[in-house]
Amino acid sequence: MSNTTKNIDAATGSEIRSHEWDGIQELNTPLPRWWLWTFLATVLWAIAYWVVMPAWPMIGSYTKGAINWSQRSNVDAEMKATAAARLPLGNRLVAAKPGDIEADPQLLEFALASGRALFKDNCAPCHGAGAQGAVGYPNLNDDDWLWGGSLSEIEETITYGVRNTNDKSRFSEMPAFVKLGTLNRMQAADVVEYVESLSGRQHSADAAKRGGALFAENCASCHGETGHGDRTQGAPNLTDQIWLHGGTRIALTTTISNARNGSMPAWGERLKPAEVRALAVYVHSLGGGEPEHVADASAKP
Ligand code: HEC
Ligand code: HEC
Repeated sequence: MSNTTKNIDAATGSEIRSHEWDGIQELNTPLPRWWLWTFLATVLWAIAYWVVMPAWPMIGSYTKGAINWSQRSNVDAEMKATAAARLPLGNRLVAAKPGDIEADPQLLEFALASGRALFKDNCAPCHGAGAQGAVGYPNLNDDDWLWGGSLSEIEETITYGVRNTNDKSRFSEMPAFVKLGTLNRMQAADVVEYVESLSGRQHSADAAKRGGALFAENCASCHGETGHGDRTQGAPNLTDQIWLHGGTRIALTTTISNARNGSMPAWGERLKPAEVRALAVYVHSLGGGEPEHVADASAKP
């Protein structure tokens, strides 16, 4: 249907357009006014935004905008402010005694937060992101410590490291018993059986008996008469089921034949004292942290 006079739709009062498809016609409804204004406002907003803010890419650069805003300079300013805000807390952390840190919630929170971040950056490659350790790298979540689990012992281990070139590095050296010829292979096999027996693992009783005598002679000076280890020498407890280098016969044979003597860098050479302290607080908090030892308390006047 097509004609020149206006055709008004009775239901809506709108004009019916003249074209028609298969009997279907269209109403001529103008855009609602609110919509039109909103649309115009967004166009104006976009133009204003281009003028004020960085917007258009150009060769080698971009339009900087009237207020010269830049995410980079904002981040720089924020980082300076954070570093400045941290300084007094960092100083307080270094000055605090072990007991003081836990008693001061703000200081503790600061130490744990920065310790966690520093751990991810510096320690996770060896000890794992959750400090769970790996073969050769101790788990720091448990209460099985090679060198001690009080805050000050942990801090000392982190500061000076283990078996490195630092003068104060934690140090001890288990001999490579078979390689050096101190024990022959049969004797090593007997000692392996004895070590298996210490943690209640399956073992041959006869061989373990012979191994026990060899242990007393060669190993007890570091691992103790009963195999419970010695923290002053970083010698692991052999009676638990926790293994640094593995508890299978093959792993034990390798340990006794060649020795392992793992090493860790002296973090005091690379990190600031406040960072080392924060790491120690973080590691101490992971689950195996011990109180300061009685020896320290009795040393007080
Ligand atoms: C290059 C690998 C490596 C890195 C990185 C590393 N460690 Fe270690 N760490 C070791 C090894 C290996 C040992 C065990 C040494 C031994 O046999 O006594 C160890 C031991 C320790 C111990 C002693 C555990 C105990 O049972 O007494 C602590 C605590 C520790 N690391 C903390 C850290 C912290 C904190 C960092 C990061 C700042 C870190 N480590 C980074 C390799 C590493
Ligand atoms: C001079 C001290 C010393 C002597 C002696 C010594 N050890 Fe060790 N032993 C250590 C230290 C320190 C470690 C751990 C350090 C490392 O290897 O990273 C260790 C590690 C081990 C481990 C690995 C434990 C684990 O958790 O994986 C075994 C097993 C072991 N020793 C058995 C022996 C036996 C058996 C003897 C005697 C034949 C012996 N050791 C003699 C110091 C000693």
